[in-house]
Amino acid sequence: MKQFETLLTEITDGILLITINREDKLNSLNKTVISELNEVIDEVYTNEEIKGAIITGKGPKAFVAGADITEVKGMTEEQGMALAEKGHAVFDKIEMSGKPIIAAVNGFALGGGCELAMACHIRIASENAKFGQPEVKLGIIPGYGGTQRLTQLIGKGKALELLMTADTIDATCAEKLGLVNDVVQTVELLDVCKAMIAKITSNAPYAVAQVIQSVYAHFKSGIDGFDTEIELFG
Ligand code: COA
Repeated sequence: MKQFETLLTEITDGILLITINREDKLNSLNKTVISELNEVIDEVYTNEEIKGAIITGKGPKAFVAGADITEVKGMTEEQGMALAEKGHAVFDKIEMSGKPIIAAVNGFALGGGCELAMACHIRIASENAKFGQPEVKLGIIPGYGGTQRLTQLIGKGKALELLMTADTIDATCAEKLGLVNDVVQTVELLDVCKAMIAKITSNAPYAVAQVIQSVYAHFKSGIDGFDTEIELFG
């Protein structure tokens, strides 16, 4: 696999570990990260050696502390929309991957970081993880799917509360709300994610892909998820 500027990649036993590698900027998502995530997810789709992927952030402090604020500042309306469209396309690609993708949330998952974790099929958090959508403090709103995926995961009432207050919540609270699947000790995080993805990929890969497609059909407008299930069952 090619060398990336902002990502580290490593394939072990068919599982691709993707580490966002901007530790000094708390792994915030600049244009290069978004573009390289797009490329690496294409690799997940097409590389037959890869059975599933884990996304995490470099260092002990952050998964991803949001979109890179220095890039967002001063954008015009058109530039903002273009940025959001690009991010949506990449995060949709993660969500619709037929191969399982797990977020190993190892610290701050704020703004675009929370949105990236939510685009993954499963989220496992370390005890020190923190979640939030602080955009309204900056005079903007989430632009990488946060208003939709947070509502889908935790329901309208709590989603509106977190989106409007910009509160940050800890891993235990995130688990209680259904935002994360499990909370584990920091030292165990990657091993737990690897064990879960190994369990998933030991099942029939085509069936797992169809499960993903069928579940997400519920959230696609104009599509009846029950009809999708009938078709995919066939
Ligand atoms: N974009 C760009 N740079 C960021 C960033 C972001 N979203 N989040 C953190 N950084 C940078 C800081 O500017 C700092 O860089 P510097 O050392 O060159 O000054 C570095 O990462 C470390 O961050 P710092 O704020 O010093 O760490 P902290 O422990 O004091 O605070 C946070 C951690 C996560 C609470 C704080 O960094 C923060 O609030 N970040 C922004 C979160 C946010 O609003 N995200 C949504 C963006 S739309």
